[in-house]
Amino acid sequence: MTRKIILDCDPGHDDAVAILLAAGNPEIELLGVTTVGGNQTLQKVTYNARQVMTVAGITDVPLHAGATRPLVHEVEVAGDIHGETGMEIHGFELPEPQIEVADGHAVNYIIDTIMSEEPGTVTLVPTGPLTNIALAARLEPRIVERVREVVLMGGGYHTGNWSATAEFNIKVDPEAAHVVFNEPWPVVMVGLDLTHQALATRDVENRFRELGTDVGDFVVGLFGFFRESYREAQGFDDPPVHDPCTVAYLIDPSIVQTKKMPIDVELRGELTVGMTVADLRAPAPADCHTSAAVKLDHGRFWDLVVDAVKAL
Ligand code: BDR
Ligand code: CA
Repeated sequence: MTRKIILDCDPGHDDAVAILLAAGNPEIELLGVTTVGGNQTLQKVTYNARQVMTVAGITDVPLHAGATRPLVHEVEVAGDIHGETGMEIHGFELPEPQIEVADGHAVNYIIDTIMSEEPGTVTLVPTGPLTNIALAARLEPRIVERVREVVLMGGGYHTGNWSATAEFNIKVDPEAAHVVFNEPWPVVMVGLDLTHQALATRDVENRFRELGTDVGDFVVGLFGFFRESYREAQGFDDPPVHDPCTVAYLIDPSIVQTKKMPIDVELRGELTVGMTVADLRAPAPADCHTSAAVKLDHGRFWDLVVDAVKAL
């Protein structure tokens, strides 16, 4: 059985790789791509999504644009990591997008899709701020019991990257994250604890170069820019490619090990706004609906991504 997903993203270098993995892996049925303001403005990330889909030849998947700004906070973008366009690239010429944005707001698309598919079959995969997902849950609460699970990139239980304690996707729209973590649907938090293991080493980069295809060269170009910005902004030797870890988990959960733990989102702390607070004091209660990704099989993860890129 393939997994039906809606990928809600803000491309973004690693979001782009998540789109490629979802579109190129046969276990995933990519129902739609939706965008949300995050790494850059909604306008820019939606343009980038069109470019990614054009490079990869993804012509049969609808693309809908969503929220322009967080629920409460002002817009805050990640220009130091993703550049002025949100998807700056080294040594690869991005095409004029051939993919159009579909009519209808992303939030309505998400609701309509979940309500028209069989209950328990659609998985939401947010890899940006959770604004669209929170709005969808508030606008049509019945989606909560119909969604199979929410597998999101965001948060972490031992470190942050946008503050000492908070990760970018959660920090820029903590109220939306609070809604998503507190609805009773199953939530898998693929946070920094896991995604900082998903490093695009030089060896990994070479595997994409050796494919000798356009899509492979696109990934090499993404990693080139990402490597430099992560070195300058956060002192990494190799960039952590966060977002595709969500899709890898859905394809093969043995590649991304998870652990059940109660998780909530801090909204008021002076130093901790946007922190995903995990209660690790005791084994999680039986009815705990949240879990966190803890350990990545680095080799098998990159095998999946290389295979998907090869297939596109
Ligand atoms: C997350 O923030 C964004 O910059 C990335 O695309 C990823 O989703 C990592 O903190
Ligand atoms: Ca992202």
